[in-house]
Amino acid sequence: MNNTMLTPGSIISGRGIVKTYQKVDDTSLTVLKGIDIDIPAQKISVIVGPSGAGKSTLLHIIGGLDKPDEGNVVVAGNDLSKFNDGKLADFRNSSLGFVFQFHHLLPEFSALENIMMPLLISGKSSRAAETRAKELLSVIGLAGRADHKPSELSGGEQQRVAVARALANEPKIILADEPTGNLDSANSDAINEFFIKLRDEYGMTLVIVTHNPELVKLADHIHTMKDGLLTDSSSRL
Ligand SMILES: Nc1ncnc2c1ncn2[C@@H]1O[C@H](COP(=O)(O)OP(=O)(O)OP(=O)(O)O)[C@@H](O)[C@H]1O
Ligand SMILES: [Mg+2]
Repeated sequence: MNNTMLTPGSIISGRGIVKTYQKVDDTSLTVLKGIDIDIPAQKISVIVGPSGAGKSTLLHIIGGLDKPDEGNVVVAGNDLSKFNDGKLADFRNSSLGFVFQFHHLLPEFSALENIMMPLLISGKSSRAAETRAKELLSVIGLAGRADHKPSELSGGEQQRVAVARALANEPKIILADEPTGNLDSANSDAINEFFIKLRDEYGMTLVIVTHNPELVKLADHIHTMKDGLLTDSSSRL
């Protein structure tokens, strides 16, 4: 089989993904035990399951942040195993937007600068990066907070900045790990609505690890994990 083949309609396909961590006491822990997953384009897919099931590990692998020990991942026609580290980093920066479980904003930089960062990395001029970052700040309703450092923003605002940063390079795919995990319901609802808008108005694909029942209700596809296995994949028609 051609490794760069995608299942029709899928923008991400993972096959036979295995991940084992070596522990300090020389024993090993297999946290992904052979996962096949297809992520349909322009839909919201959620990954649910108990703590420790392997959800973050899987998200990192399908986003090229981590490598599987076995199996392969194809994203938008690119077999990630064929990229060297530099090419993989370029691909991630230009094609994928990540929102992490803990937002990972750079504490010493302002909201505006945090959003500018992926644009500067991809070679935009600082002027172009600033213009785009300001646009994104207004899209997320934080134009008035451009100069605030993360510690000067509420948790909900920090998470919105993290989403804006993920969108900076106009990726087609957003991967988000518990984006509303630490937020109250009003802030969670705002982020959820924003995700719907990204799907419906911008045709983006979203893959979201979440415990948020509202988001699970909104999802087009639900992947359930347990103990390193995908135990169920269902679609809402
Ligand atoms: N670097 C590592 N070294 C060893 N074990 C690890 C490492 N990272 C994760 N694990 C283990 O792998 C398993 C899966 O972790 P993962 O972070 O993917 O779980 P999760 O489903 O995202 O959980 P949560 O809902 O709590 O975020 C866990 O049991 C965890 O302890
Ligand atoms: Mg996790």
